[in-house]
Amino acid sequence: MKILVTGGAGFIGSNFVLRTRRQRPDVDIVNVDILSYAGNLENLKSLEGDKGHVFVRADVADRDAMERLFGEHTFDGVFHFAAESHVDRSILDASPFVRNNIQGTQVLLDLARAHAVPRYLQVSTDEVYGTLGPGDPAFTETTPLAPNSPYAASKAAADLLVRAAVHTHGMNCVITRCSNNYGPLQFPEKLIPLMIANALEGKPLPVYGDGMQVRDWIHVEDHNDAVWCVFDKGQPGGVYNIGAENEWPNIDVVKAILSEVGKGEDLIQYVTDRPGHDRRYAMDSSLLREELGWSSARTFEEGLPATVAWYLEHRDWWERVRSGAYRAYYEAQYGQRMGV
Ligand code: NAD
Ligand code: TYD
Repeated sequence: MKILVTGGAGFIGSNFVLRTRRQRPDVDIVNVDILSYAGNLENLKSLEGDKGHVFVRADVADRDAMERLFGEHTFDGVFHFAAESHVDRSILDASPFVRNNIQGTQVLLDLARAHAVPRYLQVSTDEVYGTLGPGDPAFTETTPLAPNSPYAASKAAADLLVRAAVHTHGMNCVITRCSNNYGPLQFPEKLIPLMIANALEGKPLPVYGDGMQVRDWIHVEDHNDAVWCVFDKGQPGGVYNIGAENEWPNIDVVKAILSEVGKGEDLIQYVTDRPGHDRRYAMDSSLLREELGWSSARTFEEGLPATVAWYLEHRDWWERVRSGAYRAYYEAQYGQRMGV
């Protein structure tokens, strides 16, 4: 079996590629990533020399590059992880989100259809559903889409293009919508790795607003196991929520990190809130559990300390990201060369 993975140098995609090569050695991977600021080839260093993994630096929104790629390989499946993924960046400039997340998805759908790829999986997010109040029931797959940030809107638009490809062209697509991920190799602009790195360096921990926004945290490996489960068993055209039923106010996550790192709460610094900040996310993943038999394997109580330990042991990894040194590694490997 040969699959196309997009965004496989980012946080979730690189964990997916590494885990798939470990657990399913019969699955060959072509990994396409543009290596934006969030793409880090160092995440894939352990795959050097692995003939079952081919890395291609290319832009999924570049139709010519994707046509060449689909012409060179016969794929049994597409796993589309690539995206601009940070809400704060989308507030500063939404344009890259429109191009990479929306246009990129349509190009991949078109190529997958033209080349009769038998299965296409779209990696989406709980943020397409908008926000919840404190007593609201968790999002289900039938909750209306009501995205609030440009990031969430671009992901919702991409989901609707996938839906249209199923409805109009009869494509065999599935969509996964997952809650907030944490774990190794997450770019330290997102809450958990940012707070761990700042705590380790004794820098202030910036908490937006009152810190009482709630997120539903899931370990990246649980997410990726669910992605495979949906690819293998999901109904064609199906949408599946992924979550670990693990809601935490941000401030409690920050305090748990400080305690794990052994630093005082005086490092907490309340800062101006994010504009349009979603108050609460919570996922109802009973469809995935009951229909496909998936369940999460890790609790936050074990996963968060293990993640803090990973960032402690891999200080060099995030220090190279924070200093920008990680870019020199792939520039040396790939230069500015783009496409395939
Ligand atoms: P990330 O920002 O760490 O990685 C994204 C990767 O996509 C990067 O390597 C980047 O270089 C690549 N990329 C961006 N635009 C590209 C393009 N045009 N062509 C090729 N590659 C491109 O993001 P992540 O946290 O790993 O998220 C991966 C996917 O999972 C995204 O689709 C995101 O919306 C979704 N998701 C993330 C979370 C989360 O908590 N991080 C939760 C649910 C869903
Ligand atoms: P983030 O990791 O950016 O994920 P998302 O916005 O997609 O949920 O943020 C998680 C939560 O943490 C969110 O409520 C915003 C908050 N946050 C802070 O309070 N301070 C920070 O420095 C960051 C990056 C996030």
